[in-house]
Amino acid sequence: MNYTTHLLFILISITSLLRSTAAEPLSTTAVYAFGDAIFDTGNNNGLRTICRADHPPYAAELHDTISFGRFSNGMLPADILVHDLGLKPLMQPYLNMQTAPRDTLRTGVSFASTCSGLDDLTADEYDKNIHFRLDFSLNHQSYDLHYNNRNFEAARETMRLDIGDGPTDDVLKNAVYLISGGTNDMLVNYYAIPIRRLTYSVSAYHEFLLGNLKDFVKKLYKRGARRVGVLGMPPVGCLPLDISTKFGFKRECVSQHNADATQFNERLQQYINQFVTEMPQLKIAYIDIYNPMMDMINNPSRYGLEHTLEGCCGSGSWELGPFCSKYARVCTNSSQYLFWDSIHPTQAAYEVLTKIFKETSLSSLLA
Ligand SMILES: *[C@@H]1O[C@H](CO)[C@@H](O)[C@H](O)[C@H]1NC(C)=O
Repeated sequence: MNYTTHLLFILISITSLLRSTAAEPLSTTAVYAFGDAIFDTGNNNGLRTICRADHPPYAAELHDTISFGRFSNGMLPADILVHDLGLKPLMQPYLNMQTAPRDTLRTGVSFASTCSGLDDLTADEYDKNIHFRLDFSLNHQSYDLHYNNRNFEAARETMRLDIGDGPTDDVLKNAVYLISGGTNDMLVNYYAIPIRRLTYSVSAYHEFLLGNLKDFVKKLYKRGARRVGVLGMPPVGCLPLDISTKFGFKRECVSQHNADATQFNERLQQYINQFVTEMPQLKIAYIDIYNPMMDMINNPSRYGLEHTLEGCCGSGSWELGPFCSKYARVCTNSSQYLFWDSIHPTQAAYEVLTKIFKETSLSSLLA
């Protein structure tokens, strides 16, 4: 080897060494999302429910009416994730995919439905109690886990017909499954309408919710799911609506509700770690949103935030769904707000949460 080829050889070796030690880009076939508003990219639009965001100013920053139905100003975590993973620009809702490309199911869809929970009673109660006062015909409701499951099964059958059994199994085995739930169960069935409070202590209700979660994960596992991420509860006592319900105009987190959420999250982590005894090939990760959200509340300037205990839409204390309408006043810069309406985070906050998720639990699922 002469000097030049030698140098070239060294250079090539160094470059390939650098390439092989650099972090592999995260890759997966698809993302399937289940649960409540945090993942609902528009499934409720076609349902007869009060829990809808199919109007401006919801999703207004996405600038097209197809994106309506997202309970935020723009992208939700599932959107940010499929976009960042290079799967597609936005996550389509399963019940509302008329304009979606044919291969949509293969890269992921959302089955989630706003106002639902881990307790099937939650979606029922939301609609019965709130709907009742506004609209007396109450025969449809948000889609609980039972429907999530049924629709996932139907999606799998469609894919099988489309691309065959083997390729479908490959997609499902390598996909990431995200589940959110628990917040509405506590807000509706425990705090607001104390149906479950009559028969369950907080911890007994948590056990009940976790039992439902496990049944659901088992069903996914049976159909081939191997990488599951479960969202913990947010600081429920800092949701603007929860604060307003408790304190009126005073802005201060409801500490008991945060303590309940922390207790749930601790139990959730212990609980899902035991799933592998029954589902040996399962990788399951806890997705923490509680601590990142508390950090945004305690250190807002780190995130460019100025308002963390009231939403951007309307007064910030109460409005959501139909009450956060095109007539509502909207803040001038939603990036300075943690919350978009009185329960749901802004895209800016979701970007922070999704980034943390990608750097922590997602890499462990895809490893
Ligand atoms: C909106 O707020 C963000 C975060 O604080 C800031 O970076 C951005 O410059 C603001 N945009 C405008 C137009 O003021």
